Amino acid sequence: MMIKSFNCSIFCFYLFVVIILNVCDALFNPTDFGRIVDHPHRDGSKSKQIILNNGRCLPMVAFGTWQLGNDTVVKRAIKSAVTSGYRLIDTADIYGNEKMIGDILQEIFNEGIINRDDIFITTKVWCNHFSKPSVIKSIRRSMQRLKVSYLDLVLLHYPTGFKEIVGDKYPKFKNGSIIPRTWQKDSYTETWESMEEAVRKNYTRSIGVSNFNRAQIKTLLEKATIKPVLNQVESHPNLKQSLLLKYLMDEQILMQAYAPIRKADKELLNNPILMAIGENHNKSSAHIALRWQLQRSVPIVVKSSNPKRIKSNLQLFDFELNDDEMKQIQTIEEKSRIYDIDGLTNHPDYPFNEE
Ligand SMILES: NC(=O)c1ccc[n+]([C@@H]2O[C@H](COP(=O)([O-])OP(=O)(O)OC[C@H]3O[C@@H](n4cnc5c(N)ncnc54)[C@H](OP(=O)(O)O)[C@@H]3O)[C@@H](O)[C@H]2O)c1
Ligand SMILES: *[C@@H]1O[C@H](CO)[C@@H](O)[C@H](O)[C@H]1NC(C)=O
Ligand SMILES: *[C@@H]1O[C@H](CO)[C@@H](O)[C@H](O)[C@H]1NC(C)=O
Ligand SMILES: *[C@@H]1O[C@H](CO)[C@@H](O)[C@H](O)[C@H]1NC(C)=O
Ligand SMILES: *[C@@H]1O[C@H](CO)[C@@H](O)[C@H](O)[C@H]1NC(C)=O
Repeated sequence: MMIKSFNCSIFCFYLFVVIILNVCDALFNPTDFGRIVDHPHRDGSKSKQIILNNGRCLPMVAFGTWQLGNDTVVKRAIKSAVTSGYRLIDTADIYGNEKMIGDILQEIFNEGIINRDDIFITTKVWCNHFSKPSVIKSIRRSMQRLKVSYLDLVLLHYPTGFKEIVGDKYPKFKNGSIIPRTWQKDSYTETWESMEEAVRKNYTRSIGVSNFNRAQIKTLLEKATIKPVLNQVESHPNLKQSLLLKYLMDEQILMQAYAPIRKADKELLNNPILMAIGENHNKSSAHIALRWQLQRSVPIVVKSSNPKRIKSNLQLFDFELNDDEMKQIQTIEEKSRIYDIDGLTNHPDYPFNEE
């Protein structure tokens, strides 16, 4: 009896550890799509993560690294972000900072604070690597610079392939228009085949897209054998993307919001509705804009190079917006997007003429 219960307690503890530590390691059924879980980490911390359509989990708050700064600033910011509790680093080939991020992550892993498995790394394939062999090469180069044996998520940065000219990230005609990879519409479906190959080769656990509109997602889904887990798009209270969000959720694809405070746009941060709701909760208008996204199942990518703001932007889980507050935010005026690419409008796959 003694021995039996002794054995059971070890076994039960083992089971407990396996279940708890594997919460986000594809043990979940895809029917759990969209459920939010507390994922435990090596250092005892937990992060809020959302279950993807492939059963894996994605942290609700990502640390954005576009225009973060020089080597010194990037390293300080990443260290500060990881210490503050961010568990997703969002980078891209085109950001030019993958090597800096890889170097500092190596230091962080060596210090033993967290492991590779505790952190989710997203990178993106830039438009000048959209031919099938170039996609794989781009992903391999990102892995080398980031010094990782696998990526968590790779995105097609835009639906628009560019002509491949060595060293030219924005190839243009004399008239300023971007030179497309091909004039054939929807050629990203061919590019996607290489993204799927990257999953089969274990270069990345998940694949997704960015800056796609609804029609492009629909076309992609007709051809894809592996669904994108998410579509990363600009979204904030002035660009709610409600139609796109509804469409994606129906397809079990998450929308992930970039520029969620519209690059600290003063008018947005001083918006009377956001300020008043902020006062109700003793929170800033930025907090309200961020929390609103999380409550509509939209994970966010927010950037700061300032340690105080890095920490502050993660203080989103000690309050909740009520239905009335959520509705009030829905009434905030729509404005034009802040992100686009010069010379892209004549591209056959230009995404921003429709939602
Ligand atoms: N897929 C795409 O095509 C795409 C495009 C754009 C961006 N992104 C991703 O999304 C991330 C975020 O977008 P973003 O950087 O453009 O815009 P954002 O996160 O909306 O805003 C960042 C700006 O806001 C300031 N800021 C941060 N927190 C603040 C706060 N609490 N109060 C006041 N100001 C604050 C920052 O300044 P300080 O640094 O001085 O704090 C920075 O200038 C990018 O870093 C990138 O990873 C993806
Ligand atoms: C990096 O950027 C910071 C902030 O802009 C600046 O103070 C510092 O001098 C820069 N360092 C180097 C090595 O360029
Ligand atoms: C620029 O030239 C290209 C190639 O001739 C053409 O397809 C495109 O429409 C032109 N762009 C503009 C803005 O006229
Ligand atoms: C990818 O990983 C899985 C699970 O660990 C393994 O079974 C498979 O053989 C790997 N595939 C390749 C191409 O390495
Ligand atoms: C309001 O928030 C600030 C900053 O987060 C905190 O220092 C202060 O104690 C809070 N006030 C109340 C009444 O909770």
